[in-house]
This record gives sequence, structure tokens and C-alpha cells, in this order.
Amino acid sequence: MTLDGRVVLVTGGARRLGRAIALALAERRARVAFSYRTSAREARQTLAALERLGAEALAIRADLSRADEVRRLIERVRRRFGRLDVLINSAATFDRTPFGALTERDWDRALDANLKGPFLCALYASRLMRARGGGKIINLADWAAVRPYRDYLPYCVSKAGVLGLTRALAKELAPGIQVTAIAPGPILPPGRMSQAARERIARRVPLGRWGDPQDIVNTVLFLIEGTDFMTGSTIFVDGGQLIA
Ligand SMILES: NC(=O)c1ccc[n+]([C@@H]2O[C@H](COP(=O)([O-])OP(=O)(O)OC[C@H]3O[C@@H](n4cnc5c(N)ncnc54)[C@H](OP(=O)(O)O)[C@@H]3O)[C@@H](O)[C@H]2O)c1
Repeated sequence: MTLDGRVVLVTGGARRLGRAIALALAERRARVAFSYRTSAREARQTLAALERLGAEALAIRADLSRADEVRRLIERVRRRFGRLDVLINSAATFDRTPFGALTERDWDRALDANLKGPFLCALYASRLMRARGGGKIINLADWAAVRPYRDYLPYCVSKAGVLGLTRALAKELAPGIQVTAIAPGPILPPGRMSQAARERIARRVPLGRWGDPQDIVNTVLFLIEGTDFMTGSTIFVDGGQLIA
């Protein structure tokens, strides 16, 4: 699939990896819708940056854990662009939840945002994609979906669910819609992480460093423009974390 003139939706696109992906797709001449939930100021800045690149762009506020808001999000894309070719499920929460203090609320928060959200987006987006013949869905998972780390149980389980969701959706939606996932390793540290913790993580990565948002952007571009013969699979962009 070539991106020129295609309509893409990036969830959580106002900041960090979602923003980097949205801008890269606009540079490839895609028309870009993105969702945000609380980052209204960053959303305005990203919208302006997309427009500076000459892209037709749309920012939509939505809580993706709610079906009514996801339906409304996809309907806004349909009304503005009349079609949808690519959905990038990037939005997620990443909260430390030590097992000893874990609550039902922690579980619901992670699973609702990180698994139910991508499911709802895929459900409604795929109906719009199918009306125009097909499309692609790319889910952002995590290498910790396969090798969970301590103190993040709901997060790791939600991302393991994303790998299952990717395979099951790929089967349901073939052949018209291809569904794949990217499992990043350490790319962008959460703002709250200390320098010492960042260095400790880098030492554990076989390639000895953090990745760069461009590593994820390049993988997204490959999954959209590089091949139309992948579905149900996951690419690990993790500096070798999986084999550490
Ligand atoms: N950064 C990394 O190194 C890394 C590593 C492994 C995996 N990943 C995965 O890659 C993706 C992007 O990473 P990131 O670090 O850029 O993500 P992030 O900054 O943690 O979150 C992206 C956005 O998700 C949105 N979000 C969270 N819950 C939401 C909800 N219920 N409804 C709507 N939006 C919601 C937030 O939007 P608002 O700010 O507008 O509220 C947030 O800005 C995520 O899926 C993440 O799990 C990232």
C-alpha cells in the first residue's frame, strides 16, 4: 500500500511515539487523523505541525476505553475524509502497579485502555475500511507481552492480549484487512524515570542502548508500504531484549 492520499488514524497521536508516527505518515503525504484524551495542548501543537507539512489533518478527543467515544471517533473520520485506510493503535497507559498493592481498578484501567481500546478501534474502523475495500491495522504491543516484568502485571497482560488480538483480528478480517503488531523494547522512557534507571535498562539490552522513535516509525512505514503479504504477525523492535 502506498501512503500518498491515504487516510490514517493514529490513536494517542498528540505526543511521544504516536506523534512521531503521525508526522512521518504526513511526510509520506497521508491524510492524518489522530486521537488524544487529556493532552489538548500537545494535540493543538501536533495538529499545527501536521498542517505545516501540508497534510490534511484532524485531532479528535476520545477516551478509547468507551465504545460510544470510539464510535464517535470513527464517525468523525468518516464525515471528514469519507474513508479510512490505516489504523495505528498506539494509545496506552503504562502504570507501575506493585503486586502487593494491586487493585481491581488497576487491572480495569490497563485492560480497558490497552486491550479493549484497540479492540473497539479495530471493530469500528474495520467496518469503515471494508466499505472501501480494505486497509491495515497496526497495533503497538511491547516485548514485555512475552517476557513480563515485575510490578506491571496488568500492563504486561494487556500487551499479551494485544498479540492475541492481532492474530484473531487478522483471521477475522483477512483477506481485505491486514493486521500486524510491533513490540517495542525501550524506546522513549516515561518522563518520571530517573537517569540512573535509564542507564540500568540500557545495560540490560543486548544492543546496549535505548532505541529511537525512528526505529518504530521505520517499522510502521515498512508494514504499510513495504509489504502487503504480512498479517497476524508481530515485529519485535527491542534491541534484543527478547533474547537477553
Ligand atoms: N515508549 C516506549 O519505549 C514503548 C515501549 C514499549 C511499548 N510501547 C508502546 O508503544 C505505544 C506508544 O508509546 P508511548 O510511550 O508514546 O505511549 P504513552 O506516551 O504512554 O501513551 C500514548 C497516549 O495514549 C493515550 N491514552 C492513554 N489511555 C487512553 C485512553 N483510555 N483513551 C485515549 N487515549 C489514551 C494518552 O493520551 P493523552 O496524553 O491525550 O491522555 C497518551 O498520550 C504504546 O502502546 C506503548 O505501550 C512504548
